[in-house]
Amino acid sequence: MNLEKLFKYYKTDKSTHQYHRIYDSYLSKLRNKKLNILEIGVADGFSLVAWSKYFKNSKIIGIDIKKLKDNKLGKKISFHQGSQVDGKFLDSLIKKYKKFDIIIDDGSHYPADVIYSFKKLFSSLNIKGLYFVEDTQTSYNHFFGGNAFDLKYSNTHMNFFKNLVDSLNFKEIPNPFYKINKFDGLIKNISFYNNMIVVKKDYNYIESNLVLNNSYENKRFQTKTKRKNKRFRYFLKYKILFKSYTLFLFFINLLKKIILFRY
Ligand SMILES: C[S@@+](CC[C@H](N)C(=O)[O-])C[C@H]1O[C@@H](n2cnc3c(N)ncnc32)[C@H](O)[C@@H]1O
Repeated sequence: MNLEKLFKYYKTDKSTHQYHRIYDSYLSKLRNKKLNILEIGVADGFSLVAWSKYFKNSKIIGIDIKKLKDNKLGKKISFHQGSQVDGKFLDSLIKKYKKFDIIIDDGSHYPADVIYSFKKLFSSLNIKGLYFVEDTQTSYNHFFGGNAFDLKYSNTHMNFFKNLVDSLNFKEIPNPFYKINKFDGLIKNISFYNNMIVVKKDYNYIESNLVLNNSYENKRFQTKTKRKNKRFRYFLKYKILFKSYTLFLFFINLLKKIILFRY
């Protein structure tokens, strides 16, 4: 059975949202693999059963803040009661299962919860693993902790993931004070769909020809002095003049951030 039929047959709302199309494009090639799949938020457990029918060789793990009515869902399915924002509970899952290949967040859909779980579980996602976030419409809805009025700078999960895109290009940021975070170099791509986000974890340390260790000046200095032997001139130009300009822009932007309370 394909995913659409499975979702319909087991009555999860994933097919009414049309998520099967997105899932199918990522998961059809993984169907026969032996994976650890974690779903946050399982309601009556129907989606867990659908996943277990789709991934015949995988282990399906579900968590929910509420107790599951029927916990006899089959050998391949495990259920744990707990919250997606309970650090200790998530640590115990990581201790038990070590790594997950696929994580699906269909839990509370509250922005802070989605962000918390992603931050906490990212290290337990295997390289080449996929993290799906469903129902991101709550990000825009103040009745769900979202924000309809400040689309760019509010603390929503849409903004969190929009900002996470910078991690793909962290090597290209010519800011001498840029602080590497735990996602930099470990995200291959982030895809945004209607009400759904997909993050693929993989190594990503590619540097373009514009920078050297987050410095444009150093790269230019290195390139120029390799070709011609006018070190002093290039030193003045790149290491003094260009660097001063970079520092000037750094302080201007720092001031802007302080004035606008944007950290
Ligand atoms: C949309 S339903 C899940 C539907 C299910 N995945 C499906 O496709 O049929 C959301 C579930 O998230 C659970 N939930 C809400 N807050 C949670 C939290 N903090 N941690 C874990 N689960 C939570 C709810 O109890 C509910 O069962």
